[in-house]
Amino acid sequence: MHIGIIGGTGPEGRGLAARLASAGLEILLGSRDAGRARDAVERIRSADAHLPIQAATNDSVVESSGMIFLAVPFTHAAGAVESYRHRWRPGTVIVDLTVPLTFVQGVPTYVDVSEGSAAEHLRARLPPGVRVAAALKTIPAWVLERLDIPLDCDEFVCGDSPEARAAATEVLGRIPALRLLDAGGLESARALERMTLLLIGINKRYRVRTGRFRVVGV
Ligand SMILES: NC(=O)c1ccc[n+]([C@@H]2O[C@H](COP(=O)([O-])OP(=O)(O)OC[C@H]3O[C@@H](n4cnc5c(N)ncnc54)[C@H](OP(=O)(O)O)[C@@H]3O)[C@@H](O)[C@H]2O)c1
Repeated sequence: MHIGIIGGTGPEGRGLAARLASAGLEILLGSRDAGRARDAVERIRSADAHLPIQAATNDSVVESSGMIFLAVPFTHAAGAVESYRHRWRPGTVIVDLTVPLTFVQGVPTYVDVSEGSAAEHLRARLPPGVRVAAALKTIPAWVLERLDIPLDCDEFVCGDSPEARAAATEVLGRIPALRLLDAGGLESARALERMTLLLIGINKRYRVRTGRFRVVGV
Protein backbone atom coordinates (compact mmCIF):
# COMPACT_ATOMS: atom_id res chain seq x y z
CA MET A 1 0.00 0.00 0.00
CA HIS A 2 1.12 3.54 -0.73
CA ILE A 3 1.65 6.45 1.59
CA GLY A 4 -0.75 9.16 0.46
CA ILE A 5 -1.39 12.81 1.21
CA ILE A 6 -4.84 14.39 0.97
CA GLY A 7 -4.37 18.09 0.23
CA GLY A 8 -0.79 17.44 -0.88
CA THR A 9 -0.64 20.54 -3.07
CA GLY A 10 -0.26 23.06 -0.22
CA PRO A 11 3.10 23.92 1.36
CA GLU A 12 2.65 21.40 4.19
CA GLY A 13 1.74 18.52 1.86
CA ARG A 14 4.48 19.40 -0.63
CA GLY A 15 7.07 19.64 2.12
CA LEU A 16 6.05 16.32 3.64
CA ALA A 17 6.02 14.62 0.23
CA ALA A 18 9.49 15.95 -0.53
CA ARG A 19 10.93 14.85 2.83
CA LEU A 20 9.41 11.35 2.70
CA ALA A 21 10.32 10.82 -0.96
CA SER A 22 13.87 11.97 -0.25
CA ALA A 23 13.99 9.21 2.34
CA GLY A 24 13.08 6.71 -0.40
CA LEU A 25 9.37 6.27 0.31
CA GLU A 26 6.92 6.21 -2.61
CA ILE A 27 4.35 8.93 -2.17
CA LEU A 28 0.95 9.61 -3.71
CA LEU A 29 0.40 13.36 -3.64
CA GLY A 30 -3.33 13.99 -3.71
CA SER A 31 -5.52 16.91 -4.73
CA ARG A 32 -9.15 17.47 -5.57
CA ASP A 33 -7.82 18.22 -9.04
CA ALA A 34 -5.41 15.93 -10.91
CA GLY A 35 -3.82 18.89 -12.75
CA ARG A 36 -3.01 20.69 -9.50
CA ALA A 37 -1.46 17.50 -8.16
CA ARG A 38 0.72 17.22 -11.29
CA ASP A 39 1.82 20.87 -10.92
CA ALA A 40 2.77 20.29 -7.28
CA VAL A 41 4.79 17.18 -8.15
CA GLU A 42 6.56 19.06 -10.92
CA ARG A 43 7.40 21.87 -8.51
CA ILE A 44 8.87 19.44 -5.97
CA ARG A 45 10.78 17.58 -8.66
CA SER A 46 12.38 20.80 -9.88
CA ALA A 47 14.71 20.33 -6.88
CA ASP A 48 15.27 16.62 -7.55
CA ALA A 49 13.82 15.02 -10.68
CA HIS A 50 14.11 11.50 -9.26
CA LEU A 51 11.94 11.84 -6.17
CA PRO A 52 9.40 8.97 -6.13
CA ILE A 53 6.23 11.07 -5.94
CA GLN A 54 3.17 10.35 -8.04
CA ALA A 55 0.37 12.85 -8.66
CA ALA A 56 -3.08 11.56 -7.69
CA THR A 57 -6.59 12.63 -6.89
CA ASN A 58 -7.61 12.55 -3.24
CA ASP A 59 -10.02 9.77 -4.26
CA SER A 60 -7.23 7.53 -5.46
CA VAL A 61 -5.19 8.34 -2.35
CA VAL A 62 -8.06 7.01 -0.24
CA GLU A 63 -8.41 3.93 -2.44
CA SER A 64 -4.78 2.89 -2.53
CA SER A 65 -3.00 4.16 0.58
CA GLY A 66 -2.46 2.31 3.83
CA MET A 67 -1.32 5.49 5.55
CA ILE A 68 -2.87 8.84 4.68
CA PHE A 69 -1.64 12.22 5.84
CA LEU A 70 -4.38 14.82 6.03
CA ALA A 71 -3.00 18.20 4.97
CA VAL A 72 -6.06 20.32 4.20
CA PRO A 73 -7.03 23.47 6.15
CA PHE A 74 -8.75 22.51 9.42
CA THR A 75 -12.03 24.18 8.41
CA HIS A 76 -12.33 21.69 5.53
CA ALA A 77 -10.87 18.64 7.24
CA ALA A 78 -14.11 17.24 8.68
CA GLY A 79 -15.84 17.68 5.31
CA ALA A 80 -13.00 15.88 3.54
CA VAL A 81 -13.09 13.00 6.04
CA GLU A 82 -16.87 12.71 5.91
CA SER A 83 -16.96 12.73 2.12
CA TYR A 84 -15.15 9.36 2.22
CA ARG A 85 -17.46 7.95 4.93
CA HIS A 86 -18.23 4.77 2.97
CA ARG A 87 -14.76 4.26 1.55
CA TRP A 88 -12.42 4.17 4.53
CA ARG A 89 -10.89 0.72 4.90
CA PRO A 90 -10.29 -0.85 8.32
CA GLY A 91 -6.62 -0.76 9.21
CA THR A 92 -5.92 2.51 7.40
CA VAL A 93 -3.89 4.94 9.49
CA ILE A 94 -4.82 8.60 9.12
CA VAL A 95 -2.16 11.04 10.27
CA ASP A 96 -3.72 14.39 11.04
CA LEU A 97 -1.53 17.44 10.38
CA THR A 98 -4.21 20.10 10.78
CA VAL A 99 -4.12 23.00 13.20
CA PRO A 100 -7.36 24.84 13.99
CA LEU A 101 -6.19 28.42 13.85
CA THR A 102 -7.29 31.71 12.47
CA PHE A 103 -5.67 35.12 12.38
CA VAL A 104 -7.44 37.86 14.35
CA GLN A 105 -5.93 41.22 13.41
CA GLY A 106 -2.74 39.43 12.45
CA VAL A 107 -2.54 37.44 15.70
CA PRO A 108 -2.70 33.63 15.38
CA THR A 109 -5.68 32.48 17.44
CA TYR A 110 -6.79 28.95 18.33
CA VAL A 111 -10.23 28.05 17.04
CA ASP A 112 -11.98 26.21 19.87
CA VAL A 113 -12.98 22.70 18.89
CA SER A 114 -15.67 20.98 20.97
CA GLU A 115 -13.75 17.67 21.07
CA GLY A 116 -10.66 19.47 22.45
CA SER A 117 -8.40 19.32 19.38
CA ALA A 118 -8.50 18.97 15.62
CA ALA A 119 -7.20 15.42 15.89
CA GLU A 120 -10.00 14.37 18.28
CA HIS A 121 -12.54 16.21 16.10
CA LEU A 122 -11.49 14.05 13.15
CA ARG A 123 -11.29 10.86 15.25
CA ALA A 124 -14.97 11.40 16.12
CA ARG A 125 -15.83 11.45 12.40
CA LEU A 126 -13.94 8.34 11.34
CA PRO A 127 -15.04 4.69 11.68
CA PRO A 128 -13.51 2.75 14.60
CA GLY A 129 -11.44 0.47 12.33
CA VAL A 130 -9.48 3.46 11.02
CA ARG A 131 -6.63 4.45 13.32
CA VAL A 132 -5.73 8.11 13.89
CA ALA A 133 -2.39 9.67 14.75
CA ALA A 134 -1.38 13.33 14.79
CA ALA A 135 2.07 14.64 13.93
CA LEU A 136 4.07 17.34 12.17
CA LYS A 137 1.97 20.08 13.70
CA THR A 138 4.96 22.00 15.01
CA ILE A 139 7.35 22.14 12.05
CA PRO A 140 6.82 25.09 9.68
CA ALA A 141 5.99 23.97 6.15
CA TRP A 142 8.55 26.47 4.89
CA VAL A 143 11.28 24.39 6.55
CA LEU A 144 9.83 21.06 5.41
CA GLU A 145 9.95 22.24 1.80
CA ARG A 146 13.58 23.35 2.02
CA LEU A 147 15.38 20.05 1.54
CA ASP A 148 18.69 21.87 1.84
CA ILE A 149 17.90 22.63 5.52
CA PRO A 150 18.40 19.59 7.80
CA LEU A 151 15.39 19.42 10.12
CA ASP A 152 17.59 18.86 13.16
CA CYS A 153 14.65 19.01 15.58
CA ASP A 154 12.07 16.95 17.45
CA GLU A 155 8.50 16.30 16.45
CA PHE A 156 5.69 14.88 18.55
CA VAL A 157 3.49 11.95 17.61
CA CYS A 158 0.27 11.20 19.45
CA GLY A 159 -2.45 8.77 18.51
CA ASP A 160 -5.59 6.88 19.43
CA SER A 161 -3.61 3.65 19.91
CA PRO A 162 -0.01 2.47 20.31
CA GLU A 163 -0.36 0.94 16.82
CA ALA A 164 -1.25 4.28 15.21
CA ARG A 165 1.65 6.02 16.96
CA ALA A 166 4.07 3.26 16.02
CA ALA A 167 2.99 3.31 12.36
CA ALA A 168 3.30 7.10 12.06
CA THR A 169 6.63 7.04 13.90
CA GLU A 170 7.97 4.29 11.65
CA VAL A 171 7.21 6.28 8.49
CA LEU A 172 8.20 9.76 9.73
CA GLY A 173 11.26 8.28 11.42
CA ARG A 174 12.74 7.68 7.95
CA ILE A 175 13.23 11.43 7.58
CA PRO A 176 16.86 12.20 8.42
CA ALA A 177 17.67 14.46 11.39
CA LEU A 178 14.13 14.28 12.74
CA ARG A 179 13.59 12.70 16.15
CA LEU A 180 10.05 11.55 16.87
CA LEU A 181 8.85 11.75 20.47
CA ASP A 182 5.95 9.64 21.70
CA ALA A 183 3.43 12.20 22.98
CA GLY A 184 0.86 9.59 24.09
CA GLY A 185 -2.88 9.60 23.46
CA LEU A 186 -4.69 11.72 20.91
CA GLU A 187 -5.68 14.21 23.62
CA SER A 188 -2.05 15.42 23.58
CA ALA A 189 -2.96 17.12 20.29
CA ARG A 190 -4.67 19.79 22.46
CA ALA A 191 -1.25 20.93 23.66
CA LEU A 192 0.58 20.30 20.38
CA GLU A 193 -1.84 22.38 18.32
CA ARG A 194 -1.42 25.27 20.75
CA MET A 195 2.36 24.88 20.55
CA THR A 196 2.03 25.63 16.84
CA LEU A 197 0.49 29.00 17.68
CA LEU A 198 3.26 29.66 20.18
CA LEU A 199 5.83 28.87 17.51
CA ILE A 200 4.20 31.08 14.87
CA GLY A 201 4.37 33.96 17.37
CA ILE A 202 8.02 33.25 18.22
CA ASN A 203 9.00 33.01 14.56
CA LYS A 204 7.21 36.29 13.87
CA ARG A 205 8.83 38.16 16.75
CA TYR A 206 12.32 36.89 15.86
CA ARG A 207 11.66 37.52 12.15
CA VAL A 208 12.56 33.95 11.15
CA ARG A 209 10.62 31.14 9.46
CA THR A 210 12.75 28.32 10.76
CA GLY A 211 11.99 28.05 14.50
CA ARG A 212 11.04 24.55 15.68
CA PHE A 213 11.19 22.45 18.84
CA ARG A 214 13.89 20.40 20.54
CA VAL A 215 13.23 18.65 23.88
CA VAL A 216 16.37 18.21 25.96
CA GLY A 217 17.01 15.58 28.62
CA VAL A 218 15.09 12.82 26.81
N1 LIG B 1 1.76 25.69 6.69
C1 LIG B 1 2.38 25.30 7.81
O1 LIG B 1 3.46 25.78 8.18
C2 LIG B 1 1.77 24.20 8.65
C3 LIG B 1 2.47 23.68 9.76
C4 LIG B 1 1.87 22.67 10.52
C5 LIG B 1 0.59 22.23 10.20
N2 LIG B 1 -0.06 22.78 9.13
C6 LIG B 1 -1.41 22.32 8.81
O2 LIG B 1 -1.33 21.55 7.61
C7 LIG B 1 -2.52 21.74 6.85
C8 LIG B 1 -2.11 22.18 5.44
O3 LIG B 1 -1.43 23.39 5.52
P1 LIG B 1 -1.13 24.23 4.21
O4 LIG B 1 -0.49 25.49 4.64
O5 LIG B 1 -0.45 23.38 3.22
O6 LIG B 1 -2.64 24.52 3.73
P2 LIG B 1 -3.26 25.13 2.39
O7 LIG B 1 -2.18 25.45 1.43
O8 LIG B 1 -4.19 26.23 2.78
O9 LIG B 1 -4.18 23.92 1.86
C9 LIG B 1 -3.63 22.69 1.48
C10 LIG B 1 -4.49 22.07 0.41
O10 LIG B 1 -5.78 21.77 0.92
C11 LIG B 1 -6.67 21.65 -0.19
N3 LIG B 1 -7.95 22.29 0.14
C12 LIG B 1 -8.20 23.61 0.27
N4 LIG B 1 -9.51 23.81 0.51
C13 LIG B 1 -10.09 22.58 0.52
C14 LIG B 1 -11.42 22.13 0.70
N5 LIG B 1 -12.45 22.98 0.87
N6 LIG B 1 -11.66 20.79 0.65
C15 LIG B 1 -10.65 19.91 0.42
N7 LIG B 1 -9.35 20.29 0.22
C16 LIG B 1 -9.09 21.61 0.28
C17 LIG B 1 -6.01 22.36 -1.38
O11 LIG B 1 -5.63 21.34 -2.29
P3 LIG B 1 -6.38 21.12 -3.70
O12 LIG B 1 -7.05 22.42 -4.08
O13 LIG B 1 -5.24 20.79 -4.62
O14 LIG B 1 -7.33 20.00 -3.48
C18 LIG B 1 -4.78 22.99 -0.77
O15 LIG B 1 -3.68 23.05 -1.66
C19 LIG B 1 -3.37 22.79 7.57
O16 LIG B 1 -4.38 22.16 8.30
C20 LIG B 1 -2.39 23.46 8.52
O17 LIG B 1 -2.99 23.91 9.71
C21 LIG B 1 0.50 23.74 8.34
